[in-house]
Amino acid sequence: MASDRGWRLLLFGLLCVGALGQEQSREVWLQYNPGTLDTSVNVLHARAVGNGSTIHYVWSTLGTPAVLLIYSESETSQLRVNWSKLLSPEPQGALSVEPAASVRYATAILFTRIFEYQDVNNTANFSGTDEKYFYPPYDLSRLRWENANASVNATSLSANLTSDPSSFQNGSVSFRISAYSTAGRDTSSPRLRHTANCTKLEFLLAGIRPRGNNSRFALEMATVEQEGGKKMQSVRSIDDEYTPSVFEMMQLVPDAPNSSLARGFLQWKSVAYGSPNGTRADILPCQLYPLRPVNATFPAGSIAHAYFGDALGDAYNLEAFNISFGIADGDFYDKNQFLSWSALIGYGDPPRDSFSILVICIMAVALGTPLLLLIIGAIVVTAMRHKVYSNYEPIN
Ligand SMILES: *[C@@H]1O[C@H](CO)[C@@H](O)[C@H](O)[C@H]1NC(C)=O
Ligand SMILES: *[C@@H]1O[C@H](CO)[C@@H](O)[C@H](O)[C@H]1NC(C)=O
Ligand SMILES: *[C@@H]1O[C@H](CO)[C@@H](O)[C@H](O)[C@H]1NC(C)=O
Ligand SMILES: *[C@@H]1O[C@H](CO)[C@@H](O)[C@H](O)[C@H]1NC(C)=O
Ligand SMILES: *[C@@H]1O[C@H](CO)[C@@H](O)[C@H](O)[C@H]1NC(C)=O
Ligand SMILES: *[C@@H]1O[C@H](CO)[C@@H](O)[C@H](O)[C@H]1NC(C)=O
Ligand SMILES: *[C@@H]1O[C@H](CO)[C@@H](O)[C@H](O)[C@H]1NC(C)=O
Ligand SMILES: *[C@@H]1O[C@H](CO)[C@@H](O)[C@H](O)[C@H]1NC(C)=O
Ligand SMILES: *[C@@H]1O[C@H](CO)[C@@H](O)[C@H](O)[C@H]1NC(C)=O
Ligand SMILES: *[C@@H]1O[C@H](CO)[C@@H](O)[C@H](O)[C@H]1NC(C)=O
Ligand SMILES: *[C@@H]1O[C@H](CO)[C@@H](O)[C@H](O)[C@H]1NC(C)=O
Ligand SMILES: *[C@@H]1O[C@H](CO)[C@@H](O)[C@H](O)[C@H]1NC(C)=O
Repeated sequence: MASDRGWRLLLFGLLCVGALGQEQSREVWLQYNPGTLDTSVNVLHARAVGNGSTIHYVWSTLGTPAVLLIYSESETSQLRVNWSKLLSPEPQGALSVEPAASVRYATAILFTRIFEYQDVNNTANFSGTDEKYFYPPYDLSRLRWENANASVNATSLSANLTSDPSSFQNGSVSFRISAYSTAGRDTSSPRLRHTANCTKLEFLLAGIRPRGNNSRFALEMATVEQEGGKKMQSVRSIDDEYTPSVFEMMQLVPDAPNSSLARGFLQWKSVAYGSPNGTRADILPCQLYPLRPVNATFPAGSIAHAYFGDALGDAYNLEAFNISFGIADGDFYDKNQFLSWSALIGYGDPPRDSFSILVICIMAVALGTPLLLLIIGAIVVTAMRHKVYSNYEPIN
């Protein structure tokens, strides 16, 4: 009996290692203002090199804060920045990836405005609130930003883009950025699962004095996508092991059924947190509003403008959308003067929440059901067969 258990453990160990080993890893570098000593703007470049491809992520607080994702089918592609052009009033073309022919896909997310409104009756109905209860929105392109160089940690692949407190009611807006070289799960709430094909951004509003009682906030973003634009998807999860009581994952993906290369995504759990603790008590459910087309101009310059130039309108579309934070009868921003919302931006298949392999292994071993073993074995074998056969090209 004991040896039977031992064999079972060994077999499961092998299965688990095999399954984990399939996750792709990338070599990642994080660099601040490549090619200049100028610190008047922040440009962060994460270069993630994998087997036969490079994903370039470029964040910047130039003009409207934004992140670019550029997917290149070359392991040696480089980001080129023409700094004098980037800082000029006409930044079109200041940013490129070379060789240009290796670029297969590019997208961007721009963080345009923060809305604040008075939720008189605590209904958290952002879209149904009368205009007179809205304060003038904060235009993020008008903020000043701190020098982010000191926040860059090349080991943990993280950095913070933080607004200058004097430019925002003594509080700050910040984007905490993390890149990953392997797949895994975040240690901080909402414990998003990531792959080496994505990076995380955490949007934070801290210490901003609300302009009245019962203040709630919403964030407006814009996205650049090839013809066809983007679409929203809601993915239900049964697994709330990591974020109790949150079962919905939202993702923004290209609406391009004919393109196998348009595969950028933005993914998040429908939750924000009203305190740095990130516990269940601090949960602020968030709500997403439909995408709407925007006229073909980039708001107030940005690295998106520098990269896409005037291609907008021809090859690319700009669409905007809002996310509001809070729930009826819930706490207002005032409680802790804190708000945090996290999302992943990446390339390929958005990570899916599922019972972790470890949990499945423990369950199977603990239950000691040979049947489960057989079923999983069969599934794995079938999957492997598919893999092997799909490598063969049909011969004419
Ligand atoms: C950023 O900081 C590093 C040292 O930590 C320094 O070598 C580099 O020159 C700085 N970059 C800029 C643009 O100031
Ligand atoms: C890289 O991909 C090729 C084919 O796509 C494969 O043959 C090779 O084993 C891969 N190398 C690594 C290190 O994964
Ligand atoms: C950078 O852009 C300027 C125009 O703003 C141009 O004159 C210059 O040649 C460019 N530099 C490089 C290295 O391409
Ligand atoms: C708040 O509720 C009261 C009573 O139900 C209603 O008269 C009032 O119009 C509501 N105010 C807003 C802004 O919805
Ligand atoms: C939000 O307000 C609008 C307009 O007042 C109303 O039509 C809508 O039903 C409200 N939504 C919810 C969820 O209460
Ligand atoms: C980013 O800011 C958070 C707090 O806002 C801090 O805990 C963290 O250490 C900062 N990261 C870096 C790389 O400085
Ligand atoms: C960078 O991150 C690593 C790993 O998280 C940590 O050990 C190290 O102290 C950090 N360095 C700085 C300068 O914060
Ligand atoms: C910011 O802080 C300063 C000093 O603490 C204070 O005088 C000022 O009123 C504050 N401004 C806002 C908008 O809270
Ligand atoms: C906020 O509420 C307090 C007490 O509920 C009240 O005294 C104060 O006038 C209100 N402030 C505003 C701006 O409505
Ligand atoms: C965070 O948690 C600690 C300990 O659980 C608690 O003392 C503190 O009040 C919490 N902070 C907030 C802002 O909820
Ligand atoms: C775009 O601009 C034109 C003219 O400036 C205006 O008529 C149209 O309504 C705008 N469309 C959108 C979607 O904003
Ligand atoms: C990661 O990107 C590569 C292309 O470089 C793709 O083949 C792979 O399927 C992606 N991984 C995931 C999990 O989407």
